[in-house]
Amino acid sequence: MLYSEKVMDHFQNPRNVGKMEDADGVGEVGNAKCGDIMKMYIKVEDNIITDVKFNTFGCGSAIATSSMATEMIKGKSIDEALELSNKAVVEALDGLPTNKIHCSVLAEEAVKAAIEDYRSRQAAKGQ
Ligand code: FES
Repeated sequence: MLYSEKVMDHFQNPRNVGKMEDADGVGEVGNAKCGDIMKMYIKVEDNIITDVKFNTFGCGSAIATSSMATEMIKGKSIDEALELSNKAVVEALDGLPTNKIHCSVLAEEAVKAAIEDYRSRQAAKGQ
């Protein structure tokens, strides 16, 4: 079997899919390798990510990794979420085929971009 059960599960029933109108941070990244796009929304309270949503035009592996990534950062602090690597997400999914690893990078980069956006909004508020 090419894909693990967990990958198939998150692909077929992705968690936290959608848009967030009142997000505190939004990150959009593109995959240089395939051109697919990922958008990640976060809601932050007291430095904790209380809600996450994602939208993607990516492939099944991008959907599965993003779904897992959102589950992994929900309830975590900003700093913990920043440490999430695509490798950790792939491990949590019991692996991905080698030629699909680049898809998991989208999720990691989108999380980082959303946090960066959150931080720059906070900085702007402080001025
Ligand atoms: Fe583009 Fe997987 S092929 S994200």
